[in-house]
Amino acid sequence: MSDSLTNGESDVSLFDGSILKELDFSECLATYKPTISHTSPGENLIMRPLQLSDYEKGYMKLLTHLTVVGDVTKKEFEDRFCKMRGCADSYYVVVVEDTSVGKVIGSVTLAVEQKFIRQCSSRARVEDVVVDDEYRGKQLGKLLLDVAMLLSKKIGCYKVSLECKDKLVPFYEQFGYVAGEQNYMV
Ligand SMILES: CC(C)(COP(=O)(O)OP(=O)(O)OC[C@H]1O[C@@H](n2cnc3c(N)ncnc32)[C@H](O)[C@@H]1OP(=O)(O)O)[C@@H](O)C(=O)NCCC(=O)NCCS
Repeated sequence: MSDSLTNGESDVSLFDGSILKELDFSECLATYKPTISHTSPGENLIMRPLQLSDYEKGYMKLLTHLTVVGDVTKKEFEDRFCKMRGCADSYYVVVVEDTSVGKVIGSVTLAVEQKFIRQCSSRARVEDVVVDDEYRGKQLGKLLLDVAMLLSKKIGCYKVSLECKDKLVPFYEQFGYVAGEQNYMV
């Protein structure tokens, strides 16, 4: 980890976490039973931006619940982290940490694309929504999705979309996502 990056601090965040604190969660609050929020996600849990030290806190292992991750070294992780961090206003990887065990147990990525259209607007994609299986069913997936949606609004995106397997369509429909009219091609 380079000194210029850490600037003497013990850790580095992927983006300025103050934007999370500024989110207006009031429109979502009533939908949580029991009540949790991004500032209070549960006992010993905190929600925050991805940090460099999350490599040691199991972030890459968490991603294996999603897809093939590969054998990513710490150096490779740090290089990718720095590249993403260098793209201003583009990568918002939000994680939930269980501070009692120092482990990252949930994550969502909001990837923002800068556009010329719509008066130089931006559009966002929700990617890599994952909750550690020991922590599922506690509304954390919902919380991560709500935070991604509120972040996209705060940033001023005109559109937010995601791709998912058929079996997860009902999960995302709960949050207002609908099948788009355009074809998705790979
Ligand atoms: C999908 C996932 C993120 C859900 O996380 P979670 O924390 O268990 O979800 P929540 O507790 O917030 O559930 C919120 C609601 O969604 C429902 N739900 C959860 N998983 C669901 C699924 N796979 N399909 C349909 N509904 C689902 C819950 O029952 C709950 O509904 P309720 O409010 O009526 O009780 C988690 O199961 C996961 O990480 N899966 C593996 C990775 C993955 O497939 N990610 C999505 C990639 S597109």
